Amino acid sequence: MMELRAEKISRDFLRYSAKDGYFTAVAETDFTLAAGTLTAVMGHSGSGKSTLLHILGGLMKPVTGRVLLDETDIYALGEAERDALRRCHIGIAPQRLMSLAALTVRENILLPALLTGQQETAAVRADVLMERLGIRKLASVAPSELSGGELRRVTIARALVTQSGILLADEPTGDLDEENTRSVLSLLRETADAGTAVLLVTHEREAAAYADAAYTMTAGKLDKIA
Ligand SMILES: Nc1ncnc2c1ncn2[C@@H]1O[C@H](COP(=O)(O)OP(=O)(O)O)[C@@H](O)[C@H]1O
Ligand SMILES: [Mg+2]
Repeated sequence: MMELRAEKISRDFLRYSAKDGYFTAVAETDFTLAAGTLTAVMGHSGSGKSTLLHILGGLMKPVTGRVLLDETDIYALGEAERDALRRCHIGIAPQRLMSLAALTVRENILLPALLTGQQETAAVRADVLMERLGIRKLASVAPSELSGGELRRVTIARALVTQSGILLADEPTGDLDEENTRSVLSLLRETADAGTAVLLVTHEREAAAYADAAYTMTAGKLDKIA
């Protein structure tokens, strides 16, 4: 059971059109992701949701504030140590679809488990996840042969394969039809019920119904809506 806590995190990007040369994507934000809960973050495109998720996931250092995984300040660690911690404890389904072309669907899903030495338990789990997500028959196919919606489900399975304490999902239903959207949302709900701290960044109105708490993000700031 793990908790992820952000304290006063900010991130700017260089942008020549901005008044002082910087654009603020995340502005002095506090955020807590508790074990066993599903938290939804909604908001318009460009409001800072993915930047927040990247900071929480140890992928992008904030310019102010800190991120605590339980009691560990993850950005106080060296890069190699932070990467190792992330691989063990944080599953990430990124917004941008990514896969390794030389590996099959099944191998792509198993990759995070391979990196943490969990191949044995993960093999069974990968099959269960593929079944749940309706991509079992694609196990031996190359990712280049998949549709966007199929590849999206591969990235979700990959984020779930190691059963990490923290799960960060960035618009995981973006390319999915209604039926697949519902099955992904239920899977995330079950993952939270099993004890994982789950963040769901989404445009899906329906998602709030699956969540324990919901926020909207506007210009880098979070407001609690439920
Ligand atoms: N690596 C980057 N370099 C420059 N600007 C960025 C970068 N990442 C995000 N931004 C800017 O920060 C803002 C927030 O982006 P993002 O967090 O992706 O928003 P959202 O996920 O809510 O659509 C956007 O205006 C985007 O252009
Ligand atoms: Mg985004």
